[in-house]
Amino acid sequence: MTHKVDFKVPETEDFDSPHALFAELRSHCPVAWSDDMGGFWAVTKHADAKAVLENWQMFTTTVQNVVPRVATTQRRPPLHLDPPANTPYRNAIQRFLTPARLSEWEPRLETMVARFLDPWIAAGGGDICKDFSFLLPIALLAEFFNLSPDKAELIREVGAEFNMALQRQDFDLLRQKSDELYDIAADLIADRHANPRDPDEDPTASLLAVRVDGEPLADDLILGALRQFLLVGIIAPTTFIGSMAVHLARHPEHHAELTENPDLVPEALEELLRLYTPYRGFARTAREDTEISGCPIAKGDPVAIVFTSANRDEEVFPEADTYRLDREARDLLTFGRGPHMCPGAPLARVLLRETLRQLTQKTLRLEQRGGIEMTNWPEYGPLSVSFNVIV
Ligand code: HEM
Repeated sequence: MTHKVDFKVPETEDFDSPHALFAELRSHCPVAWSDDMGGFWAVTKHADAKAVLENWQMFTTTVQNVVPRVATTQRRPPLHLDPPANTPYRNAIQRFLTPARLSEWEPRLETMVARFLDPWIAAGGGDICKDFSFLLPIALLAEFFNLSPDKAELIREVGAEFNMALQRQDFDLLRQKSDELYDIAADLIADRHANPRDPDEDPTASLLAVRVDGEPLADDLILGALRQFLLVGIIAPTTFIGSMAVHLARHPEHHAELTENPDLVPEALEELLRLYTPYRGFARTAREDTEISGCPIAKGDPVAIVFTSANRDEEVFPEADTYRLDREARDLLTFGRGPHMCPGAPLARVLLRETLRQLTQKTLRLEQRGGIEMTNWPEYGPLSVSFNVIV
């Protein structure tokens, strides 16, 4: 079915231009069609985004879960399965993310952040994405999944190449890198079969121990789930930490406030997660002809939930473009909503809080050096941005 084109995806973007485009769409055309990237609806209002995410009976994740569409040969739970099929995969991992488990991570993350941040500060700064924020979540996932150092290093290399291929929309290279990530996941499973571990201590062992109606999860789906987890937690923190640093450089008064009062870091993080939401292109597909806030959607249409836009919706967040620590509304969609809401969110928050705390305790100011190389859909934020560090 052809649709009237409401907007074009810009070929080049800067740090602020996506927000200007989304503000325009929210006020004039909140559910907007673009023919770009395979054709999709952009849902830009908070209430509509929530409604699509919660209505999994109408909007399935099994067809296309990201804009631009990446042809995938294999299913990767839990993101590629609708409820209830996704639940056992989530449960197998969420047992490692309880409040008690998270409190164990706090001291470990303090050390891990310092391991990567201190050399960056000692060098007077540099590219915060390449030299810090890309390394940190990989080190975290390596520890989370009990990976050997050589496997962690391999994920770092392949993950970087995968991300670059995605940004350049080089789909051949993307498939090749995706296959390499599958190989790493397959090795991990083979190792846990050969050297069994306690399912209470090892996420891969936990996935292998799941029984649904007495049966283990299918091998190819465990493989897909591991492949999903090995990548999905890396990209958002990388780019979001870049955005956080750009904000601090633009607003030395906010930096100084956090340096003087580190107790404000948790609120500041929530406000930064709202302002610079790193995902805008997670998607669903309409199962039937339907509508979103009166806009007709045809069966089979891809629908992108633009989290980056929904979190700046004035109807929910007054003065939405302004950093304010006294907000009452805290209904963030940064980590999604509904049956696919990010299970890694509590761990990501510990990681990001510790990063913001150390960044503002160990430096007095950041000065941006040069321009910002931006990510493209499905993400928002810097791929590369450099700073001079004033201590
Ligand atoms: C700033 C950091 C992060 C952000 C903003 C983020 C955001 C999101 C969002 C918006 C979704 C929902 C996608 C959808 O509904 O289509 C999601 C899903 C997911 N996230 Fe995160 N995430 C982050 C970090 C992490 C980390 C550290 C992990 C791993 C420990 C992780 C694991 C996952 C998984 C496995 C899913 C799929 C869940 C499902 O389909 O049931 N994420 N994330």
